[in-house]
Formats: sequence, C-alpha cells, structure tokens
Amino acid sequence: MTQQLRVYVPPHPLIQHWLGVARDVATPSVLFRSAITELGRWLTYEAAREWLPTQETTVQTPLTTCVATFINPQIPVAVVPILRAGLGLLEGAQGVLPLASIYHFGLARNEETLEPTCYLNKLPEKFAPETRVLITEPMLATGGSIMAVMDELTQRGVDPALIRIISVVVAPPALKKLAAVYPGLIVYTATIDETLDDRGYIVPGLGDAGDRIFGT
Ligand code: URA
Repeated sequence: MTQQLRVYVPPHPLIQHWLGVARDVATPSVLFRSAITELGRWLTYEAAREWLPTQETTVQTPLTTCVATFINPQIPVAVVPILRAGLGLLEGAQGVLPLASIYHFGLARNEETLEPTCYLNKLPEKFAPETRVLITEPMLATGGSIMAVMDELTQRGVDPALIRIISVVVAPPALKKLAAVYPGLIVYTATIDETLDDRGYIVPGLGDAGDRIFGT
C-alpha cells in the first residue's frame, strides 16, 4: 500500500469554538493564549489515538479481577515545541501527556535569507527506539520550520510514522513539502486554510501566532 500524508481535522465543537476565538482579531492576548492552550489540549487528545502505546494487565476491582489497559510506561513519549509559538500549545499538550519529556527547539526567521535559523536545540543526540514524538507548531505555512525540525528528529533516529504534529492552522505549501518527504506522517489540525499572502501569512489564518500569544 502506498503511504500518504494524513491530515485530520477533528470535527469537534470545542476545537471549532477555540479556533473561532483565536481567529477573531478582537480577541485580546490573554484570551488568545487560553484558546491556543485549549486547542493544544484537544488536538493532543485526538492525536493520541492509536499513537500512545498501551499494555494490558489485570487489576483487582472491589469485586473480582478484570483486564485493564494502561499506557505503557516503558515506551518514551516526547513533546517538541517549536519556539516561540509552539509554546502556546505546550501547556494543553502537557496536561494530556504529563509524563512526556519536553525538548525545546527554537527557530527564528533570518530576515536576509528568509530561512529558519536554529537558536535553541535541546533535542537529545539520539532518541530511544520506538519513541513517540509530538511536535507543537500552531501555524504550518511555508513549511520551512517544520521541515527543519522533521529533519533534526529523523537524523536523531525518530521514525516519522511515530511522529504526530499538532497545529492550529495549516496551509497547502507546508503540507505539500511534508507529503513529498514524509508520506507516512500524520498531522492533526483545527483547520486547513487555502492560501498564503505575499509575506507568508496564512489567509484567513489568525495573524502572527507568536505575537498574539505573547502580546508583542
Ligand atoms: N506564522 C504565523 O504566526 N502566522 C502565519 O500566518 C504564518 C506563519
């Protein structure tokens, strides 16, 4: 079977609600931050399906023994927020994955080349086999940043099939780049928008996610 990039847009009223709040230009920074936190929570919840490893065991209830399914603690789970804006989704993601290790990765746009330049890389040299990695990045626009992070992760031994990306708004240029190199990859997002403007902003989008999260 040929693999294809899969992009899930969960039809969930809470995800739709918080996306609407985030899109509204009248939303103040404090509420925008809450909206992104909530989107981080619900998109992580959705992304955890068929991704978080489980194991079966037996527990004793007050009445008898029965089979129970738990998250397998032997298999590492990591979250990689792409700074700055990815920090906005982190709090909600951590609420769902409280035992995950957090590896920060900071990228800033070089204003001359317009390419993302790494200013912080807390990734381990090598990830343990089977590690599940969740990348948090609210906007997948041109795809420059996400491709840079995917490259770093796969070089460090992460299997792209075990990576999930959560994003609030994604656009076709980023999806095309990801699909060309990582056909087995799975993305969870609140929406797929149509286009980018000539500055690389997603339209209709929600503006500069980092500025709106941090009130700058
Ligand atoms: N990054 C943002 O914050 N907003 C966009 O629209 C595109 C990239």
